[in-house]
This record gives sequence, C-alpha cells and structure tokens, in this order.
Amino acid sequence: MSHQTVIVLDFGGQYNQLIARRVREQGVYCEVRPYTTPVASLKALRPIGIIFTGGPGSVYDPAAPQADPELFRLGVPILGICYGCQLLAQNLGGRVAPAQGGAAREYGKTETFFDTDCRLFRGLPAGSATWMSHGDYMEKVPEGFRLTARSAACPNVAISDEARGFYGVQFHPEVNHTEHGAAIIRNFLYEVCGARGGWTMGDYKETAVRRLREKIGDGKVLLALSGGVDSSVAAALLAEAVGRQLTCVFVDHGLMRLREGDEVEAAFSGRDVRFIRVNAAERFLSRLSGVTEPESKRKIIGEEFIRVFEAEAKKIGRVDYLAQGTIYPDVIESGAGDAAVIKSHHNVGGLPGCVDFKEIVEPLRLLFKDEVRALGRELGLPEHLVSRQPFPGPGLAIRCVGEVTGEKLDMLRRADFIFRDEIARAGLAGSMDQYFAVLTNMRSVGVMGDGRTYDYALALRSVTTSDFMTADWARIPYEVLDRVSVRVVNEVPHINRVLYDITSKPPATIEYE
Ligand code: XMP
Repeated sequence: MSHQTVIVLDFGGQYNQLIARRVREQGVYCEVRPYTTPVASLKALRPIGIIFTGGPGSVYDPAAPQADPELFRLGVPILGICYGCQLLAQNLGGRVAPAQGGAAREYGKTETFFDTDCRLFRGLPAGSATWMSHGDYMEKVPEGFRLTARSAACPNVAISDEARGFYGVQFHPEVNHTEHGAAIIRNFLYEVCGARGGWTMGDYKETAVRRLREKIGDGKVLLALSGGVDSSVAAALLAEAVGRQLTCVFVDHGLMRLREGDEVEAAFSGRDVRFIRVNAAERFLSRLSGVTEPESKRKIIGEEFIRVFEAEAKKIGRVDYLAQGTIYPDVIESGAGDAAVIKSHHNVGGLPGCVDFKEIVEPLRLLFKDEVRALGRELGLPEHLVSRQPFPGPGLAIRCVGEVTGEKLDMLRRADFIFRDEIARAGLAGSMDQYFAVLTNMRSVGVMGDGRTYDYALALRSVTTSDFMTADWARIPYEVLDRVSVRVVNEVPHINRVLYDITSKPPATIEYE
C-alpha cells in the first residue's frame, strides 16, 4: 500500500479542504495538516509535493502564521496559493506589501495572462479567468524566481523557480471560477511532483478502515442512522472497520417515503453489525395529532427523535464512541447561516448530550458530498441509497401542509412515488437537484366519472440549485407533467388536482414548511 502523498499545509484559508479535494480528483492521495505540524512529522509522510494554502493574514505581520524555513530545504516541490504564495516569496528573499490605491489589490474574476513555458501552466491558453482575493501583493520577486503570470492590475500574479520546484500563484486554482484551475493543479502534481496517479476512492476506503480500527480498538460504537446518504455511508464504513462493535439505531418515524424504511433495513441486513430498527411511527403520529404550525411540527419531531434514540441508547448502556455522518460542508456551515440552523435542528444535532460516550467519531468529516457517494458505492451500498436526493429530517411531515394524519401521509407517499417514478422513466433525474410531491391543505371541487369530488390538491416541486440556498424551478417537459397528473388522480384516491410549483427560492423556500 505505497501511495504517493501530497501535503496540503493549512495556513487558515477557507478553501483548504477544497484544495485537498482537487488533488484527490486528480487521482493523488492527499493529507491536510496544520502549518504548526513539525517538519519532521511532515517529512515522515514522505510527500512528493506540498501545497501552501491561502490564509487570512498578512505575511509581514509578526503574529501571522509562518512557514518553517526548513520546509524549503526538504527538496520537495512547493506550490503556494495566495497567502501561501506570499509566504514563499517572503521566505526566499522577496518582499510582500499592502496593495496600494487598489493598483494591485484584486478581488473576484480577473483576466490573467500566463507564460505557458512554465511547467505549471503548460497546455493552458495564453489568457483566461482566475479567481483573486488578495489585499497584499509581491512587491519584490525573490531571487532565482521569474514571473510567469500577470493581470491588468498586477504584474506579479505568479512566480516560479523551476530548478527547485517552487511555484506561487496569487489566485485560487482550486475554485471553479478559475477557468483552468484543475489543469494547473494537475500540472503541479504530474509535471512538477512526478505523481503516478491511480489513487481511488477504494484506496480511501482502505485507509479509512485501517485508521478506524486503530482508533476504536475493541471499543463499542453507536450510530444514529437516518437512512440519508451520510449516515448510511458512515455506518457502512464503520461496519467494515469494526463489525459487531457497531450498533446502528434507525429510528423509523413513519415519515419516510414509500418503502424507504424497509430499504434502509435491507441495505444493512446483510452486514455484520448490530442493527436496531425502532418502529416509532405511531408514537410520532400521535404526538403530531392536531398540530398544524410548521415550526411546532419540526420541534416535536426533533424532540421525539432524541427521546426514542435515548431510550434505545439506555438499553445498550455505555458506549465508547458516538459516530456521526458529518461531512465537510456541514463543518463549514456550522456556526454560520441558515444551513447551520437547519442542520443543528434536525440532523440529530441534539444527540451527544443524551448518550454516555467517550468520544465522537466522524469518519466522513473531510469529504464532500459526491465523494461520500463514491465511497458508498465502494462499500457496496445500493445505488438508490447512495444517489438519494436530500431529504429533510422531519420527512414527509413538512410536505404535508397542515395537520399530519396517517391517511394524508399515505396519499402523499403514493403520489410522491409516482412523481419520482415518472421522472426516472423520462431520464430526468440527473437534471434536477431535488424533486418531490407536497400534499397541500387545499381541497377543491372536481368531477370524476359522473360524480362530484371535493378532494385534495397535490403540488409538485422540482428545483435546480447548486447550494440549496437559492434555487430555480425545474423546466419539466409538459408531457412528463401530464403523465404524472393523469397517474396521480387515477391511482391515488382523494387527490383530484395536481399543481406544478413555478416559484424560485427566494422568495419561496424549497420545502413548504
Ligand atoms: P428550504 O426549504 O429551506 O430547504 O429551501 C433547503 C434544503 O434544506 C433541506 N431541508 C432540511 N434538511 N433537515 C434537513 O436535514 C431539515 O429540517 C430541513 N429542512 C429543509 C431541504 O430539503 C432542501 O434541500
């Protein structure tokens, strides 16, 4: 198991994990380490290259994170990004200063011109957009380096010392706004560091399993399984690592979509783990009886979830580790913005306090969503689980406007299934990010056969979005909408009208409650 390693040395930049992800995408193994890591420990990893990340400080501020000068004597290629580029310059004899009068200070997409003789920029067009975000600039280029990129505002956008394998770029190649960012990172890995590539998610799995075994030893692990992608993949990974030392508690609140509870159970029944499914549908339904206010519904479900889980955990007794399927976007979001509030509220965020355990393990903490899905496939989880679209913790309760009853849930489940089925048949699943049915609380008059009906209206919601903070409604072809409508009113009793939601977010939200 000798894979080549690249170290991403973290100087506090906001994109450090994104850089790691870009390296992994190129088939190279990568570890993110804080800049305070002793050089001897970094050396022990035998890196083929080191990437210095950006950071919020100014390199000339004595309090700002500094690079150990020993790093430059390892004989290992270094790529400095933004702050990392300035560190490189300052350490090797250049000078960094505040950009004056906006002359060389840049923020946002910037047309940049490259010297394509430089190994880092090989194969790139002479000019393309890069993403800049810096208030300091390299006033003096260090000796032995040459300038290899410029923009209109700044002559010193990139530097290189090809003999020593030192490269610095002021812009961020890791973000999508930099048009040829992936090619630049690829060039660093393959042209400069001599990477062989070939590292895959299967290798990631092996490393993760080995590390989990080392950490957990013969300890007991408890995991709250929601049936969502993240907790399912975390469970499958832990199952592979520690088998029956793991207990998964799946609280089935009865608010899942058609057959979903059984599917989750089936995905874990063949594995050598302790799997407990708590069928708590009636308990949730009775607590929700008569409740119509959306926030109250959410709160009741969140609290009840913890109570049910707590009761199961008590039966198990003390555990050593509580496992969670936290993924990297959750880590970034926590503490800021709407998403954090949503997550802390419903993704079993209140759990740690109610279980007696020693430590939390979060084996997916450094992965992005699509990497988690890829890992799930490696672990043999079924595709329907791995490619599952986001599903809110409170489940169908917040897609059933007004009071939640067993009958309404049943109607909604069947209608939602038809909608998803028709989307799949039309081959449209990949073109939208979330799609589902909502049972409105509106009833209206219709005619069926010779009789008058007075039944529910179903709303179909489908959106495209990249971050779920804003979203556009999906342009589903009329023929597909027509098939869904015909099937729903024919196959689901007490729905006599189907509406398609054409509101974007904002002003509407994706969910209805
Ligand atoms: P909204 O309705 O706020 O939804 O536009 C944005 C995204 O968040 C999901 N969502 C939730 N996810 N627990 C979750 O884990 C929740 O309580 C919750 N509420 C909304 C929603 O499905 C959409 O993807």
